[in-house]
Amino acid sequence: MTSENEARQRLATLRRQLHHHAYQYYVLDNPLISDGEYDRLFQELLALEEEFPQLVTADSPSQRVGSLPLEGFSSVAHSHPMLSLENSFSDDDLRAFEDKLRRFLPDVTTFTYVAEPKLDGLAVELIYQEGVLVQAATRGDGRSGEDITANIRTIGAIPLSLQNAHAGRLEVRGEVFLSSADFNRLNRQRGEAGDPLFANPRNAAAGSLRQLDSRLTARRPLDFFAYGVSDPDQVPVRCQSELFHHLAALGFKINPLIKRCDDIEAVITHYHHLSSMRTQLPYEIDGMVVKVDDFELQGRLGNKARSPRWAIAAKFPASQGTTILRDVEFQVGRTGAITPVAILEPLAIAGVVVSRATLHNEDDITRKDLRRGDTVLIQRAGDVIPEVVKPVPEQRDGSETPVRMPTTCPACATALVRKEGEAVLRCPNTACPAQKLRSLCHFVSKAGLDIDGLGSKAVEKLFSKGLLEDIPGLYSLKKADLAALEGWGEKSAAKATRAIEKSKKTSLARFLAALGIRHIGEVTAGLLAEYFQNLEHLSAASMDDFLHVEGIGSQMAESLALYFADPATRDLLKRLMEAGFEFSEPTQRDAGALQGTTFLFTGKLQLFSRSEAKERVKAAGGRVTSSLGKKVDYLVCGDKPGSKLNKALELGITILEEQQFQAMLNSS
Ligand code: IVH
Repeated sequence: MTSENEARQRLATLRRQLHHHAYQYYVLDNPLISDGEYDRLFQELLALEEEFPQLVTADSPSQRVGSLPLEGFSSVAHSHPMLSLENSFSDDDLRAFEDKLRRFLPDVTTFTYVAEPKLDGLAVELIYQEGVLVQAATRGDGRSGEDITANIRTIGAIPLSLQNAHAGRLEVRGEVFLSSADFNRLNRQRGEAGDPLFANPRNAAAGSLRQLDSRLTARRPLDFFAYGVSDPDQVPVRCQSELFHHLAALGFKINPLIKRCDDIEAVITHYHHLSSMRTQLPYEIDGMVVKVDDFELQGRLGNKARSPRWAIAAKFPASQGTTILRDVEFQVGRTGAITPVAILEPLAIAGVVVSRATLHNEDDITRKDLRRGDTVLIQRAGDVIPEVVKPVPEQRDGSETPVRMPTTCPACATALVRKEGEAVLRCPNTACPAQKLRSLCHFVSKAGLDIDGLGSKAVEKLFSKGLLEDIPGLYSLKKADLAALEGWGEKSAAKATRAIEKSKKTSLARFLAALGIRHIGEVTAGLLAEYFQNLEHLSAASMDDFLHVEGIGSQMAESLALYFADPATRDLLKRLMEAGFEFSEPTQRDAGALQGTTFLFTGKLQLFSRSEAKERVKAAGGRVTSSLGKKVDYLVCGDKPGSKLNKALELGITILEEQQFQAMLNSS
C-alpha cells in the first residue's frame, strides 16, 4: 500500500515528467519517449489520483482528458478588452500606417516592428495565477467572453503550469487553431459518419472549443500559438520581440515565422514572403499582423474604440474568384442526405481548376438566393472542397432561373423528408439505389474494408451493369464478370477476387465502420465492438443499451437502434454472415456476467481495495465510472459514502452494500 505522502511525491514527479514530455511533443515537436512509455506514466498517474483524489491538482495532466459536460458557459469579463485589428490590403496601406504613427508621435525617429503570421483560428485568453492555468476565455464581444477553461485544458500545446516561476497573475493571449491536415482528417471522419462537414478549419476549431462536453474537445487535435499578453506590466520585458522569447521560456508555442523588422520596407518584404509560402504552410493564415515592437511606444499610441493604433493586419488576397453557375446537381449520399453541388464554368483559383463546388444544403441556397446562370463568387478554404460564397446580383440580366430543391429523390423518386431542426433533406428509402451504391463504395474504400483492387470506379461500373446490387452481392461476384469489365483482365480480376475473399477476415470494429451507419465512424465502431464483443449482442441491443457505452450519445444511439431494427439490415447482416465473415477481434473473452453494467464506487471499501474492486468489475465485463449519471447502474457504498449516495438515491440508482457487491461478483 502506498502512503499518502509517498503518493504525493510520486505524483509530483509524474506530473513533472508528463508535462515535460507533453512540452517536447506538442510545443517542440520533438518527442523524447514513445507513446507507449508516455501512456504508462499517464496510467500510473491516473491510478494514483484515483486512489488519492484529494491529491489531484488543477495542473495535473489528467485534467487534459476533459470532464463532465457543462450546462452552459459562464461569462468572463476581460481585465483589458480583447481588441480587433484594422486591415490593410496593399504595400501602400502599410506605408500609410507608418505615416500615421509618425504624425501621432512626431518625436520618434525610428519605428521597429514585429511581423507575425495572422492565424485563422480563434483568439483566447489564458489566465495563470502563480504559474498555474486557472481560467481561459474566448474573445466574445471583446469586453467579456465565455469561460472555456475545461476545453482549453485539453489542448496539449497549452501549458497547464508555466515552466519557469511567474509570480502573481499572467494573462496570455493567442490563437487556437486546427492544422489543415487535421481539419481534412476530421471532415473525412465526419463525412464517413454522415455528419455535416465543417466549412473551414476556423469553424471546426470554433465548434470544438464551444463543446459543452470537454471530453469531445479532447478528441479534436487543437493547437495553439501564443502572441501576446493583455498587460505588458505583467512581464519583465520591454518589447514584443522579447516577449516571444519570454513566452517560449514559460513553455508556450511560438510561431516560427515571426520576424522583427527594422523598418516598414522590411515589413513589406516579409509580407510578400509569407504570402508566397502561404499555401505550403500546415495551417491557414489570412494575413500578417504588424505590431510596433516597443511596449512604451505602444502605450503612447494607445487604442481606438475597437483596435489599437500600434498594430495593423496586412490581409492576403483571398483565394477567391468569380465564374458562372451553370447548374445544380443533387447528390444522394450513403445515408440518404441530399447535397446540392454547383456545376461551374471552370476557373482557376490559387493554381487549381475548380468546376464543382459544394452548396451544403437547402438553407444555404435560399440564404444566398442563388440562381442558375448567376455569376458567383467561389472560395477555396484551405485544401478543401471549394464553396460558393455568394452570387453577384449586379451581373444578372434577367435570364437566371431560381434553384429549387427536389421534392423526390433523384435516384429512386421517393418523397424526400426534412426532419424538424435539421438542415438536411433526406431520401428515407433505405433500398434507394443511390444509397446502396454509395454504401458499397464506402464498404470497399480505405475507410471501410479496404478491398484492394476494387475501387469506386469498378463498383460503379458493376452496379450500373446490374452485376452488383448491394454489399452482400460483393461476395457472390464472379471472376469472369470482373474480367469482362472495360480495362480489366484475368489478372486484375483474380487480384480483386482474392481481396474480396480476404476481406471476410476482419475485426468487428472495422466491419461496423464499413457498414457506414449514420453517425458511426471508426472511433465509435471501436467502442461498440469493445463493449458488445460480438455482432449478436450488438444487433440485439436496445437504444438504452447503446447509451450505456461510454462515448455514445443520444444521436448515435438513436441511429444505431434504427439501423439494427430495420429488417433490411437484418437481411443484409444475415447474408454477410452466410458469406463467411469471421471476426478476429475482440478477444473472444467470456462476455461476463456484468456485461453492459456500469458501477460507481463511493466511500472506503473494507473487503477490497478500490483498484481491486474495479479490476473485478472489469474482469466480469462490467464498466467502472467515476461520475454519477444516468448511465450508472449500481453505486457500491463503502464507509462514509459522501454526497454521491444522496444523489444516487435521487436518481433512483441501485445502491449496493459491499457484501451485496461481493455476492454479485462471486456469482458472476
Ligand atoms: S494581436 C490588439 N496577433 O486576429 C491586438 N492577433 O483582428 C490584437 N490574430 O482576434 C490581436 N494572429 O484572433 C494578434 N499574431 C497575431 C494574430 C492575431 C491572429 C487574430 C486574433 C484577433 C484578430 C484581430
